[in-house]
Amino acid sequence: MTPDFIREELERLKQQGLYRKLRRVEGEQGPTLIVDGREVLNLSSNNYLGLATHPALREAAKRAIDRYGCGTTASRLISGNMTLHEALEEKIAALKGTETALVFNSGFQANVGIIPALVGEGDVIFSDALNHASIIDGCRLSRAKTVIYPHCDVNRLEDDLKRAPASDRKLVVTETLFSMDGDEAPLDRIVDLAERYRAMMMVDEAHATGIFGPNGAGVVAKLGLTERVFLQMGTLGKALGGFGAYVAGSRALRELLINRCRSFIFTTSLPPPVLATAIAAIDLLYKEPQRRLALWHNCRALKEGLKRLGFSVGQSESQILPVLIGAAQKCMAFSERLLEEGVFAQGIRPPTVPPGTSRLRVTLMATHTHEHLHRALKAFEAAKNEFRIFSS
Ligand SMILES: Cc1ncc(COP(=O)(O)O)c(C=O)c1O
Repeated sequence: MTPDFIREELERLKQQGLYRKLRRVEGEQGPTLIVDGREVLNLSSNNYLGLATHPALREAAKRAIDRYGCGTTASRLISGNMTLHEALEEKIAALKGTETALVFNSGFQANVGIIPALVGEGDVIFSDALNHASIIDGCRLSRAKTVIYPHCDVNRLEDDLKRAPASDRKLVVTETLFSMDGDEAPLDRIVDLAERYRAMMMVDEAHATGIFGPNGAGVVAKLGLTERVFLQMGTLGKALGGFGAYVAGSRALRELLINRCRSFIFTTSLPPPVLATAIAAIDLLYKEPQRRLALWHNCRALKEGLKRLGFSVGQSESQILPVLIGAAQKCMAFSERLLEEGVFAQGIRPPTVPPGTSRLRVTLMATHTHEHLHRALKAFEAAKNEFRIFSS
């Protein structure tokens, strides 16, 4: 027996153009994919460096299974803390230039656990309006007062910080590279403000890890802010091609999270093959810098091509190009039209992005070839005359 509200809710989502369904990908995650039985160009992946299918990661996973087995079957604080967890944490800390690191099961789990471990009732969080859902939920779970400042608006952030009582514990949280817009936070100015108003500074490097800064250490390292950012988190499941997440920071922060962070404490720890792939991926960041160069080359080429066709790609300076459409239904129709042309560029709608800003989230990979990009631009050109969505 299905309760009435479920049918009603699904109907309402369909009418609003917000109904979601799963697409099935066969085979592996490459620059092209087999989606629903058809080969299409993949412009919808976070496999930015192409590491998810790299032979070194496959080998590392196989070796770890042979040596350590498939799972840990316990949390880190019981019997699930293996040598591989600590080896990975040392690699992450060395990459990020921090005293320590702590591995989490996913970026979502990290954010919903970290924030309530740092702040609670009577404290204040200052959060960018476009921060990821996991940060929003972490803020909610913490029960701290959350002040949302307009996207990247440092003047408003300063006004908000000024208004908060000096005695309150404060946390400023922002993504460094925004997941749906591909723009970078003005981090140096945000860090200045956090210091001036004595707030803890937390950043989410989910989409910057592996991509920006020396050896792909992230935006914080790129800007030389490592000593001034209290907490950096990021994922191992996007550019690093595997799964999981990390926090990088001081030894005291690591100890606090081990003792207080519920999403770290009350869950089975990451399994050996996943840890081994992350270690192999970090090694490749040093060994194969040409992947980042290939990615930047592809970003420039596709961005210029889309602009030439008259599409608006916002403020992006990264591997994430938001092709703005507007209404949710129109956006999904455009995405379907591209799919008919053999190009998979996912439409993104509310609640992932604000109403009226639905977009195709086009993402580049280091492993896209010149022919792939040509094919993408041909498809956008073929679809464009049917949709009146141009910037000028
Ligand atoms: C900015 C941001 N933070 C956190 C996450 C969650 O990371 P994960 O996919 O590892 O759960 C994501 C992606 O899903 C993200 O885009």
